[in-house]
Parts: sequence; structure tokens; C-alpha cells
Amino acid sequence: MDIQLPGPGVMNPGPVGVFDSGFGGLSVLADLQRALPQADFIYLGDNARAPYGTRSFDAVYRFTLEAVERLFAMGCPLVILACNTASAKALRNIQQRDLPRMSPDRRVLGVIRPTAEAVGGLSRTGVVGVLGTPGTVASGSYDIEIEKLHPGFRVVAEAAPMWVPVVEQGFAGSPGADWFVDEAVGRLLARDSRIDTIILGCTHYPLLYPKIRAAVPRGISIVSQGPIVAESLIDYLRRHPAMDAAISRGGATRYLTTDDAGMFARQAGVFLGREIMAESIDIA
Ligand code: DGL
Repeated sequence: MDIQLPGPGVMNPGPVGVFDSGFGGLSVLADLQRALPQADFIYLGDNARAPYGTRSFDAVYRFTLEAVERLFAMGCPLVILACNTASAKALRNIQQRDLPRMSPDRRVLGVIRPTAEAVGGLSRTGVVGVLGTPGTVASGSYDIEIEKLHPGFRVVAEAAPMWVPVVEQGFAGSPGADWFVDEAVGRLLARDSRIDTIILGCTHYPLLYPKIRAAVPRGISIVSQGPIVAESLIDYLRRHPAMDAAISRGGATRYLTTDDAGMFARQAGVFLGREIMAESIDIA
């Protein structure tokens, strides 16, 4: 995953932290739970301050750092930023600047690098479309990572600013969502007729998958990040046995939100397809 640092020392085992601005990271968490059924997880959604996609670099960095600090304080040896916006705007600073002083044995990993790695084996034309939040697209993170990892590839990225609010407000299945999906997909595909792979570069977007699939011609693959991030984590733990040993294995997940716990639990049920209990915390 993003930036390899020296391996961790011995730590008390703790859960894997999974962070997102809100609900979107649950689409990644579900795949992580399937891939590592014995592992413990703490999911933290900063719903009170979501969405992050339209916020400044500095705000996303500050909010993400607060979340990471809290997850470390709760004993997480490893935190996954299951949020493209946070991965694009905060990960590098946290890894390079904060981690060495805060907690050199712990790790923070993102979702952009593993997705960029995976896309090399998926595109035949080498022209890859990315749909993401305005923040992720403006950061150019996918362009930089993909073009670095796969020389000769071309990345075409478009923002789909309304998709997160549509999902967060519970309208992913509504007829009204079709308009926003068609509009952003149309804008992306009009940029280059050679696009054969589209990355859903926001962890909220898999909730719109049926509508996106219907809007995108059959020959074009649509890539959701959950399975890619899960596979990449398994590979990471294989290569870092000390971190693997630092993950507690009770098969339990705690769900934390910075907003109302009841509201979070209801919406999370839509993402996960089952009921959960949530707790409210303050991280600011
Ligand atoms: N789910 C987040 C992502 O992957 C962004 C949602 C937001 O704008 O807060 O980018």
C-alpha cells in the first residue's frame, strides 16, 4: 500500500481501525470483514463533519489526523483510511510527518495506492476513467499514482459532487438518483472514447453500483475498491508478520460515529445489509 516504512515493534494486539468521513467506508469494511473474519475492527465515521469531498486540504488533513489519533488511543495498531478524499489529502502528511513522532510502530494505509496498482491488470486500452469527489479529483492523486505505476496509461477523472449527498440522504435507489448518475457518467465518457475501465474513486459510490452499471456500456469494467483493498491488506499482513500479530482476533466490530448513534445505525444497515449497534463519540 502507500509508502513502506520499517516494520513495527511488539505491540499489544488491537483492532484494525477503519476510518471514513461518514458511511462510505462501510463498503470497504464489509470486504475487510469477509477477508479477515477473525480480526477485530473499529469503524469510525466522522458523520458530524461529512462530507469531506468539498472541504479544503487543511480541513481534511486536520479532521483525519484527529480520527487517526483517536483510533490509535483506542489501541488500533493499524488504521485504514477507507476514504479517497482523506487518502488523497491527508495520508502522505500523516505517514511522513505525524506517524514518526506520534506512534512510529503503528501504520496508516489508504485506498488509492492499492486501487491504482490493481487497475494495471484490468485495462487493455490503458485509458482509465475515475469518478470521485471534487477534492479527490482536484488532488490529482489517481493521475499521479496510476501514471507512475503504469507508464503510458492515461487517467481521465471527473467529479460527481452530488453522489455522496444522494447516498448519505438515503436516495441511492431512487429514480431521482438516475439523473445524477447519467450526468456524471456521460461527462466522463465524453472525455475519451477509449476508456475501458472506470474506478469508483469514492467509497460511497458502490451504493449506486446498479445505476452506474446501467449507465455505462457493457464493454467497460467498473471497479469498486472494497475487494481490492481487502486483498491488498491480506498481502500487506503477509509481508509484515509483526503487524499481523498486532491485530486482535475476536471477530468483533465496534461502530463509532461523531454524529447521532441511532441515525448512524439505521443508515449503516443500508450499507451493510444487516442491523448493527453504534456508539457516538467526540473526536475534535
Ligand atoms: N467516501 C469518501 C471518499 O471515498 C468521501 C465522502 C465525502 O465527501 O465525505 O472519498
